[in-house]
Parts: sequence; structure tokens; C-alpha cells
Amino acid sequence: MSGRLTDKVAVITGGGAGIGRAIAKRFAAEGAHVAVADIGSTDEVRRDVTDAGRRFLAAHCDTSRPDQVKAFSDAVGKEFGRCDILVNNVGIYPLTPFEELTFEDWKRIFEINVDSHFLMSKAFVPGMKHRGWGRVISLTSTVFWLKIDAYTHYISTKAANIGFTRALASELGPHGVTVNAIAPSLVRTATTEASPLAGMFEALPEMLQSIKRTQVPEDLTGAAVFLASDDSAFMTGQTLAVDGGMVRH
Ligand SMILES: NC(=O)c1ccc[n+]([C@@H]2O[C@H](COP(=O)([O-])OP(=O)(O)OC[C@H]3O[C@@H](n4cnc5c(N)ncnc54)[C@H](O)[C@@H]3O)[C@@H](O)[C@H]2O)c1
Repeated sequence: MSGRLTDKVAVITGGGAGIGRAIAKRFAAEGAHVAVADIGSTDEVRRDVTDAGRRFLAAHCDTSRPDQVKAFSDAVGKEFGRCDILVNNVGIYPLTPFEELTFEDWKRIFEINVDSHFLMSKAFVPGMKHRGWGRVISLTSTVFWLKIDAYTHYISTKAANIGFTRALASELGPHGVTVNAIAPSLVRTATTEASPLAGMFEALPEMLQSIKRTQVPEDLTGAAVFLASDDSAFMTGQTLAVDGGMVRH
């Protein structure tokens, strides 16, 4: 590892599992200290980060709830004094046909996939701006560019993640804070394994990707380190498709 994130403090939402956990592990290997906000177990990611000799903080935090985000950001401030890198990774993606989708489903997915990004950015961006250096990285999805059924709600939230990235980048660019997004293809995680999406693990790469294998969380970590480091200092407002060559944009 290159140590490109030595002594940076990274906050990763939903970092207890899947893509967020893989990013946390890689960031720690690159020298970062890591704080994770998650409603699930953080035991494994704690081991990943501390095995790399880095400091770790986890809080049980529903990132869509303002009071819980406030308590989490206070804890990060107390433990580390700052957050240099925010990875807005948290997200849910249940398949539901539009006709079955309730207004409650619609509001809940927006709370988790969009409000969480807003609340976490509100909590940590002011400090980045004050210090003149920061990175905000959000997980969107290539579904934004694809024809996929039963995803009106999810694709709408992932479009919002891209819009948020583009717009916030304009305001923060003058202050040394970059804002970018990563768009994966279908990734093999415990959640996708247990969903009907698992039925597409073989067919989707074969039909739509240039690289003919199922994506794994570790495929995203190189791009995340790049966007978190000084190597991407002149890049902001962008969405990087890390998807085996599925979409061109
Ligand atoms: N897996 C894929 O195929 C895929 C593809 C494209 C984009 N993405 C995006 O990547 C991101 C991560 O996806 P993943 O597959 O790693 O997810 P995952 O389900 O494997 O992990 C998500 C984590 O978020 C946590 N979480 C869920 N709701 C929460 C809440 N309200 N507050 C705090 N934590 C919460 C879960 O406990 C879990 O640890 C999401 O934004 C998703 O939209 C995933």
C-alpha cells in the first residue's frame, strides 16, 4: 500500500458491511483512521481497521435521523477532532414494482439514500471548509443510466446522489473540498446475495459489462482511495463509473 491517506480521518456511513466495509479496510491499509456509522454490526470492520494499526470508532447510528447523526458527529469530534474524508455510502435497494410502491416506501428510501448524505455532509463539511481540505465521496449506481424494472424509487435516489455531488462541488471547490461520486455495477455483497438481484450475477456481466465477471466490493476501493487522496485534487463534481465497462458517459 502507498500510505496515500496517512493520518487522515475518514467517516464511512454504512461501513459495517459490503462496499463500505471494503473501503474502510482499504483506507486503513492506506493509513487512515476510520469512523463508521451503521445500524448493523461493526465487529468485522473494527477488526479490519485495528489489525491495520489504525484508530477506529463505531456508533450505532441511523444516518437518516438528525439526532443520531448529531450524536455521531459529536463522538467523531471528541475522538479524532476532525473528519477529512466523508464517504456517503449508506443505501438500500429493495426491488419493488411501481404499482406496489407505497408513499411510505418512497419516503423511507429517500430518507436513507438521500437525507443521510445531506445530514452527514452538513455535519462534516463545515470543518473541512474551515481547514481548507476535504473530500466528500458518494456511492451512486450505474442503474441511473440503465433500463431496469422495479427501481423507480431507487434510481430516483441515485439520481439525487449525482445531482447533490454536482451541485455541492460548485460551492466547495473554492475551499479545497472536492465532491465526487462512484457508480458501481451490480456488486456481490451479503445483501445482493440474499436478494432477487443474485439471479443477475452471471447474466448481467455477460450481457452488459466489458469485463465479464461479477463485481466485488474490493473493485471499488482503488477509485475510493484515488478520490480521497491528493491524486484527485483537480477533479470535482464528477461521477466515476467503476462498473466493468458497462456505461459510457
Ligand atoms: N451492491 C450493489 O450491487 C450496489 C450497486 C450499485 C450501488 N450500490 C450502492 O453502494 C452503497 C452500498 O451498498 P452495499 O451493497 O455495500 O450495501 P450493504 O447492504 O451490503 O451494506 C449497507 C450497510 O448500510 C447499513 N445501513 C442500512 N441502513 C442504514 C441506516 N439507516 N443507517 C445506518 N446504516 C445503515 C447496513 O447495516 C449495512 O452495514 C449503497 O449506496 C448502494 O446504493 C450498491
